[in-house]
Formats: sequence, C-alpha cells, structure tokens
Amino acid sequence: MTREEYLQRFLEDYLKKIGLNLDNEGFSIILRELNRFAYNPEEEGVEVVYTSDGSLTLIHRKYGEPYHSQTAGAIRETIWKFIKPSRILEKAKTREVIRILDIGFGLGYNLAIALKHIWEINPHVRVEVFSFEKELLQDVPLLPEPYREIHKWLLDKTPEYEDERLKFKIFLGDARKEIRKIGNFKADAVFHDAFSPYKNPELWTLEFLSLVKERIDEYGYWVSYSSSLAVRKALILLKFKVGSSKELGRKRKGTVASLKANVPPIDEDELRKLVLSPFSIPFRDETLNSEPLEILTDYLLRVYKYLPNR
Ligand SMILES: C[S@@+](CC[C@H](N)C(=O)[O-])C[C@H]1O[C@@H](n2cnc3c(N)ncnc32)[C@H](O)[C@@H]1O
Repeated sequence: MTREEYLQRFLEDYLKKIGLNLDNEGFSIILRELNRFAYNPEEEGVEVVYTSDGSLTLIHRKYGEPYHSQTAGAIRETIWKFIKPSRILEKAKTREVIRILDIGFGLGYNLAIALKHIWEINPHVRVEVFSFEKELLQDVPLLPEPYREIHKWLLDKTPEYEDERLKFKIFLGDARKEIRKIGNFKADAVFHDAFSPYKNPELWTLEFLSLVKERIDEYGYWVSYSSSLAVRKALILLKFKVGSSKELGRKRKGTVASLKANVPPIDEDELRKLVLSPFSIPFRDETLNSEPLEILTDYLLRVYKYLPNR
C-alpha cells in the first residue's frame, strides 16, 4: 500500500469512528493536508548524515526528519536552541543542584553538551536529569571533540546512573505515560525535543504540556527548537509566558517559555499570526493515549472548521 492509500484508508476509518460526514471537498482538503504533514506510517530505520557544523546525526525514516538540524548543525542547535535560552549555565554558577527534564533523549546530544558546559562552569554542581525516550538506539554516532568523551561516558551510563554529581534516568516508553512516574520534581530547564509537531504531535498537545507544566519550577525555562503556532498557543493557554529564541542559519526562531521568569519577546509578525492564524489552536489528546495520526487529523478538522474548536 502506498503512503497516500494508507492515509486515505486511515481518514475514512477515523471519520467513521467519530461519526463525521465530510463532503468530497472537505475530504480532499484534509487528505491533502495529511499527505503534506503526516509521518510515513510504514517506514522504519535510520540513516547517518552530516550536519553543517561537522557533527553527525541520524534521519529517522518514519518521521522523515533528522534528530538534529542539518542546516544549523547539531551542536549549534543544542547550544542556541536549548542550552543558552534555558539559562542553566547562569544557574550553574550559583546553585548546588540543577534539574533538567529531557524530553526525547534521542542520541543524548543535548544532555551531553549541557553536562560538559555545566561542569566546566562549576565542577561541583549536582545535576539531576529525567529523560524520556521510546526508542533507545544502539549505534549512536559520537559527538566530535570537545564533547566526545562525555558523550561516550553518558551513553555508557544509560538507562540509569547515580554518583555525587549526577543523577540520571531515562524512562523508556511513551513519555505520555512515563512522565507521570516522576512525582516531586521541579525542573530548572525542560529540553522539549520531540520530532516536529505535525509528525510527532502526541508530545506537543495541550494535555501533555500540562503534565510538563506540573514538573517545571516557576522560574524554570521550557525550551524548544519549534516555533509552531499550535505549540505556542497551548503554552499560552497553560499560562506560560512565551518568547522566542534566536534564529539560527535558515532555521526559524525557537520558543522559550516560563511560568514566572522573563522571556525574550516575540516579534510583531509572529504575534499577529498567533492571534489571527487558524493554525493557532492547540493539538488535543484528552485521553493522553490517542494515535498520533488521530491527533493530527482532529487538529486539521478543527483548523478547517469541520469540527468546533475546543
Ligand atoms: C528530535 S529527537 C531527540 C534528539 C535528542 N534530544 C538529542 O539531543 O539527541 C526526538 C526523540 O523523541 C523520541 N520520541 C518521539 N515520540 C516519543 C514518545 N511518544 N515518547 C517518548 N519519546 C518519544 C524519538 O524516539 C526521538 O528519539
């Protein structure tokens, strides 16, 4: 079956399931958008590619996306979209403990690079990290110097490790379920690094972000490479202050959010879209158990007003 046939069959079944009759025009609009945005449901496996700063990353065939930005460079993306906007290096100077929630451990790049810089600034600070990952890979390309050693060390310590300076655990499985296992944890930084919202919507919904909100310190920062309207709108509905991180090469700005701390402003053009664009409504997953394609289809049906927004 081709991808198009798969998505067509999926859409017919889904509309039956929710009892919605779409006319031909509506059906072809939603199918066209699914073809544009959805992941490749039947693909699997990964391939290795170079990124622009000379580091390697993998492309995940199912998502049709790299784990890190090829145009920005994997290391540069980690530093500019995650580490700097999260302000953990400033906190590392004065704190005894830094807490990180790492959503999408992937190849461990974000975490390895963060640990390297945190301990360079303050070798005594203790770092506590909870990571989430549903697909832990075996043959991970190692980061180049100066991160190679710490990256290798970290990968050797998966899925769980503790000493005086590091408490680290990867929760293996769907983050929507696993995140409920961590109780009394208030993160200084949340590295929200799933694949892009249309491809991996289950980790960008109002409901999942609300679980993340319960686990972030009021002055902590939620950071991501994504500037998706749906995601920013969900954060706003959850009462986060929402701002932009810097543009990087051809990559758009990322997002920085905090419940109480100041965030850099969003420019006027982006603000206008957030208010006016029909795409500026959150992904929804009331049961925290919906299939990703169902979450995307429900979103598209609301964007195109075949379903009321909620
Ligand atoms: C963009 S990659 C993360 C890259 C990673 N932060 C790094 O620095 O190497 C996204 C990751 O999210 C994981 N993921 C996607 N959906 C998930 C889910 N529902 N639960 C847990 N992990 C998920 C994928 O397996 C993938 O490893």
